[in-house]
Amino acid sequence: MSTLPSLPDGLREVSLGDKGLRGWQVDTPLCRALVSAQGGQVLAFQSRGREPLLWLSPAAHLAPGLAIRGGIPLCFPWFGPHPSDPRQSAHGFARLREWQLASARLDAGALHLDLVLQADAATRDLWPHDFRATLHVGLGHHLSLQLEVANNGTAAFDFSFAFHSYFPLIDSRRARIEGLAGSTCLDQLDPTGHRRHQHGPVRFDGETDRIFTGVSADCRLLDEARNSAVRLLSSGCRSVIAWNPGPEKAARLADMTPSAWQGMACVESGNVKEDTVSLPPGAVVRFALTLHQES
Ligand code: BG6
Repeated sequence: MSTLPSLPDGLREVSLGDKGLRGWQVDTPLCRALVSAQGGQVLAFQSRGREPLLWLSPAAHLAPGLAIRGGIPLCFPWFGPHPSDPRQSAHGFARLREWQLASARLDAGALHLDLVLQADAATRDLWPHDFRATLHVGLGHHLSLQLEVANNGTAAFDFSFAFHSYFPLIDSRRARIEGLAGSTCLDQLDPTGHRRHQHGPVRFDGETDRIFTGVSADCRLLDEARNSAVRLLSSGCRSVIAWNPGPEKAARLADMTPSAWQGMACVESGNVKEDTVSLPPGAVVRFALTLHQES
């Protein structure tokens, strides 16, 4: 998972759970964080003097090939169910595969990791394209992510992706997302499949599963009970997904405790559905997300 001769100060390899997953622990004067090699997934991040930024399920599966519930999984190269093959894993294979640490450096106190996943025989079986994905993780006062996707093949390919961020809340029923009012969304809970208008902020009144496309993905998640907020600043992202499983769905998820839905919500940034990305051969494209905690 790492071919680097040495790691910079503040970064060390660790085991995650007891089933063979590995990752990196970050402990610097600016922040503490935990990153899993499987999925290139940031599991935890805490800037010094601030509350933990991300939610990680206490019942998360930590085992090879199982999605980890929490942190920031990367959905890639498709979002949600596979577009044509229901047997394939939801949200793509990137979150289930081991990423390689290609570089790690300290710059002005912030740690910068480059994690790489590229096409091999197993990924070509699932998705027949020669891609190279690099996830740049910036760990300083703020957490920032940049996804770079290169098409190293001879034909164009399409992909969708999302930074599937899980945030902790005191009470999801007293939280809201600002920045999406007036846009339309696909409500995944509405079987008609009609787009609906978003009036006012998004609230998590029970199960919520809305996909906004063609929007500025910059928005703000407010935790009213704590009087704190996270601002999501992105570039290249045109989709936002707001998700909370609510009590019934949470009870059906083996990797969530029954009441956990009250203490979390997902605000996901990416390009999905109509915002799917087409990448010509030889091209490289980049998307970024920075999370700023307020108060
Ligand atoms: C969200 C989807 O992005 O992820 C939801 O909009 C889905 O429909 C949720 O339930 C969690 O997905 P998973 O595969 O991690 O359980």
